[in-house]
Amino acid sequence: MQVQIETAPFDKLSPDALAFFCFEPDTTETHDPEIAQQSGWLPDLRESGEFTGKLYEIAILHRPQGTAAKRLVVIGGGKREKFSSIEARNSSGALVRALKSKGVRSIALALDTHPAEFVTAAVEGAILGAWDADKYKSDPKAKEKPLDSFAIAIPGSKAGEFQPALRRGEIIAESQNLTRDLVNEPANRLTPAALVEAAKQMAAAAGLECETLDRDAMAKLGMGALLGVSQGSANPPFLIVLKYQPGAQRKTGDHLALVGKGVTFDTGGVSIKPSEGMEKMKYDMAGAAAVIGAMRAIADLKPAVPVTGYVPTVENMVGGNAQRPGDIVTALSGKTVEVLNTDAEGRLILADAITYAKRNGATHLVDAATLTGAIVVALGHYNVGAFTNNEAFLGRVLAASRTAGEKTWQLPMDDEYKDYLKSAFADLPNIGGRYGGSITAAWFLREFADPTPWVHLDIAGTAWLDDGRAWLSKGPTGVAVRSFVQLALDWQASR
Ligand code: BES
Ligand code: ZN
Ligand code: ZN
Repeated sequence: MQVQIETAPFDKLSPDALAFFCFEPDTTETHDPEIAQQSGWLPDLRESGEFTGKLYEIAILHRPQGTAAKRLVVIGGGKREKFSSIEARNSSGALVRALKSKGVRSIALALDTHPAEFVTAAVEGAILGAWDADKYKSDPKAKEKPLDSFAIAIPGSKAGEFQPALRRGEIIAESQNLTRDLVNEPANRLTPAALVEAAKQMAAAAGLECETLDRDAMAKLGMGALLGVSQGSANPPFLIVLKYQPGAQRKTGDHLALVGKGVTFDTGGVSIKPSEGMEKMKYDMAGAAAVIGAMRAIADLKPAVPVTGYVPTVENMVGGNAQRPGDIVTALSGKTVEVLNTDAEGRLILADAITYAKRNGATHLVDAATLTGAIVVALGHYNVGAFTNNEAFLGRVLAASRTAGEKTWQLPMDDEYKDYLKSAFADLPNIGGRYGGSITAAWFLREFADPTPWVHLDIAGTAWLDDGRAWLSKGPTGVAVRSFVQLALDWQASR
């Protein structure tokens, strides 16, 4: 799908569909665009009650007057004063999804009075909305046909004026779609080794350095927590390291590390999961995929801070050599861990990746992980759960998430919760008690992250949609990519 800016007047455009936002009407003002009024169509539509301007509502007029476009489309923007870049992103996605299934191949979306961040958001929305989880459907009828082109129409704007905003939206959304492609892959195809290949390919194309540690290298270092998880699988584990260094503009001694949970399949191990719904555990590498996607965008957008992505990747299987409940492993940090439940594996691989990141110079850590079912209970499918050992750093991560339009909500980490983590035989157990499961998981990670400023994002509830939304296909969402990228771009020296 070609994405571009159109600077010509609306009547000079001839896409399959020319789309406008219309807002929920108030009594004093009408926001209906001139061209839609010219056709005399919108008042009738409003009067009939078929279109009220509600968010994401869509109405289509064929062969409109006063334009060469084949269709005029109005899309509801909701209340005008509530229309932010989040609504711009989502409506743009909803527009693409609604029209592509109707055979529309080219869209121009009018965005005449909006600032550059709306252009970025609308471009992101369109590219994200165009994505579908239909790679493995062989019948072309079962596949969504992609659009040829999507334009933002800003009549009278200078050629090139909004190009950087468009380009930025393109880079971010394509990177987020790379993340979704990876998460969508089934676990028979996307093994840890295949994830290494995907990361290497991305790195080569983006101009990043990529190193991998294999099982022997990790054994030499003493990554007992990570290796314990992987030992039941015939597919060997890896730790992927992706490095971005800014050029001459480097200003700070900071070094941001992004760490992503890369369990390519989570059976639960010997503490096996129920078979119902287990197929979804192919998305247990969504944190890893988010780091890989974010590093791609970072390579292109070149923030001022060095960023390294750490991706521990394993398969959590049952087998003759699998880890048992009660096993005690020694993590890279030297701490011993009693593995009371082999299904709490994400924290074990992250513990060693976090220690490794610290040893390699990370001054700030952010991890993303499909870590706990408990976060789905707590926050549902709408908010990422956030945890920290440093409120100031979390403030920056939350601000970045807000800018990026990824809802994120802090959960508490009072010292009391740490007492849930008591092992009779080792330094730490890998699970707490029955309650506060997402918090004890975060506390486990914190035992390895401290004292480095660290934020943990639990994306178990937000990385996968069982039902699609108007603006997003069902399946992988690519959550955390935009927050990661925004955090790096917003970076100001903190010491
Ligand atoms: N990968 C799961 C968490 C998960 C659950 C992700 C649902 C996505 C959707 C994780 O490894 C896990 O199994 N966690 C356990 C921890 C428990 C054993 C303490 C859980 O949440 O049940
Ligand atoms: Zn698990
Ligand atoms: Zn898991």
